[in-house]
Amino acid sequence: MAESSWWRDAVIYQVYPRSWADSDGDGIGDLPGVTARLGHLTWLGVDALWLSPFYTSPQHDAGYDVSDYRDVDPRFGTLADFDALLSRAHELGLRVIVDLVPNHTSSEHPWFQEALRAAPGGPERARYLFRDGRGENGDEPPNNWSSTFGGPGWTRIVEPDGSPGQWYLHLFDTTQPDLDWSNPEVRDELESVLRFWLDRGVDGFRVDVAHGLVKADGLPDADMPHGYLTVPTSLAPMWDQPGIHDVYRRWRQITDEYARPGEDADRILCAEAWVKPADALARYVRDDELHQSFNFEFLMTPWLAEDLRHTITETLSAAEAVGAPQTWVLSNHDVVRHASRLGFEQSHGLTPPRGIGPDDPQPDAALGLRRARAATTVMLALPGSAYLYQGEELGLPEASRLPDDVRQDPTWERSSHSQPGRDGCRVPMPWEGSTPSLGFGPGAESWLPQPPEYGALAVDRQRSVEGSTLELYRKLLSLRRELRPGLGTLTWYDAGSDDVLAFTISAADGRVVLVLANLGASPARLPDGARLLVSSSPDVSNGIDVPIDTAVWAEIDHPG
Ligand code: NOJ
Repeated sequence: MAESSWWRDAVIYQVYPRSWADSDGDGIGDLPGVTARLGHLTWLGVDALWLSPFYTSPQHDAGYDVSDYRDVDPRFGTLADFDALLSRAHELGLRVIVDLVPNHTSSEHPWFQEALRAAPGGPERARYLFRDGRGENGDEPPNNWSSTFGGPGWTRIVEPDGSPGQWYLHLFDTTQPDLDWSNPEVRDELESVLRFWLDRGVDGFRVDVAHGLVKADGLPDADMPHGYLTVPTSLAPMWDQPGIHDVYRRWRQITDEYARPGEDADRILCAEAWVKPADALARYVRDDELHQSFNFEFLMTPWLAEDLRHTITETLSAAEAVGAPQTWVLSNHDVVRHASRLGFEQSHGLTPPRGIGPDDPQPDAALGLRRARAATTVMLALPGSAYLYQGEELGLPEASRLPDDVRQDPTWERSSHSQPGRDGCRVPMPWEGSTPSLGFGPGAESWLPQPPEYGALAVDRQRSVEGSTLELYRKLLSLRRELRPGLGTLTWYDAGSDDVLAFTISAADGRVVLVLANLGASPARLPDGARLLVSSSPDVSNGIDVPIDTAVWAEIDHPG
């Protein structure tokens, strides 16, 4: 496969800058902190990193509320720090993808501030979705849409003359007004932002709320529960509208224009689109649109062999139909970490942004970690590209007992404290087991408290320790580089039980790798002659049974 198609089987590691490494001791991670710790990523063996937002922002939604798309928030550093990060990453052979937040700005963005000062009906308001209210005095919201974080999706403003005024749409927090993508000025501005970062040398973008930019004409009432991936998105007037694809065709032309000499389409766009079913999602990655889209259906699939087989089959065939690589992901900054999610018996109903609070049922940590290691072992063998979230290589559990008074996710307030929100997956990284902030920063400061169990899971406690989760990830990533299963073809394998998920992958060098995950209640057997390459649990050795909640890669002579 040509170098130019690096993204077709890349492993991309999500760095959440505020929680990765804090260089100045203020308790918030920053860009110099990221640069200082890039060696972890090369040592681990990933291909690229995706940086969550570091742009100027009041941080009402952890930076997904941008007030200046062309600058770095002082909490995270400066543009010079960004340039230094990018150039160091490139020296180390790591590509860098940045987050782009096109659905909404911060309410502190100059455009929104101008809109508030301007009269209704003028061009300043036309960049957002301002509407008159319903009801006699306009005191009812313009439609029934709600915010993804809870509560209504509309907020009423006070007009400059002091009278009760129009309403503006925000599919997220009140401080995140939605832009109006039917306005050419909005399109031009975000294209210019793309070029700004491409000119600085980034390798691509993760596109926030990629399915939300275009809304149904007339903003009709929604006849469905609002939320992440709850119903086929075709039923939702705020998601997955056909007009969105014109935006991405245009963006694809721009990234193609920036392809480096001798390379083809090497700057990529990855959609954060909670769209289903799989063929609707695949429309985002047709060959003249985006390069990748996150496969959240995989992340949400319960730990059941039949369900996983179904999701994998559906997603592979949908991606194949449009010639795109599939992506796989198990954790990110919006969902309960998979080491905890899988520690519940099935169907705990952890739909993001719900999270886990101290009064909720708590996951079984040992079960969760065992299954999480098995799930990752399966994921890293699947054809396509995979995304990892910082700390999952340590087997970090969700910080599920955070005290309520430290919560910062707007979900907590907007849901009237019924949903703890996403802070539990965003707690700063433990690097060293025995320093005050576990090596996150020079002192004891950490914007969210690190739970006591994080110390024993720190990077320095797991490096070179046989059987540690960190060494498992490193081994999987090194085998992945050698065998290139991401470019392989998956063939289902009959392991003799419906509760065993098994498939073969033909490696780049012609070897056949059997991937077998035992989700049943009794041990599963590897075929005679299988040679173990890696196991998610240390208690497997060549030629013996594969225990419950364990996944292995083994080399076999014949696909069976
Ligand atoms: C998706 C992001 O991943 C999430 O963190 C954010 O709150 C929403 N989009 C709104 O930007």
